[in-house]
Amino acid sequence: LASVEVDVGSLTPGMSLIVKWRGKPVVVRNRTEKEMKDGEAVNLADLKDPIARNANLPSDAPATDANRTTPGKEAWMVMVQVCTHLGCIPLGQEGDFGGWFCPCHGSQYDTAGRIRKGPAPENMAVPVFKFISDTKILIG
Ligand code: FES
Repeated sequence: LASVEVDVGSLTPGMSLIVKWRGKPVVVRNRTEKEMKDGEAVNLADLKDPIARNANLPSDAPATDANRTTPGKEAWMVMVQVCTHLGCIPLGQEGDFGGWFCPCHGSQYDTAGRIRKGPAPENMAVPVFKFISDTKILIG
């Protein structure tokens, strides 16, 4: 399927679900207040990959916490949950940065899915998506 509609109405803060989109797992996470604050507090100079990697934004948009999400819905991470090293599936809410941890070679991502440590070269990809209602997201 080119596009996938996802009902996220049951996701309270701290909950995630994974849908398959174009053969890849896409995580939809309703981040907690703390996860958002942790993501916003990161100094951009500390990022290994300073680019947002958000298909909804220009290709040179900086990797701020907000640029990893969508305007007005900053709690929500929608992201291809595939490690940018060699394509393993990272585990959510694991690792030193409270985001994602890849068990294959130890890459660590923060609460906005930005690579912080380990061999992965890029932040995990944010696909084209939008909220089509308060509780529905269209991916692709
Ligand atoms: Fe994730 Fe190598 S595939 S660290």
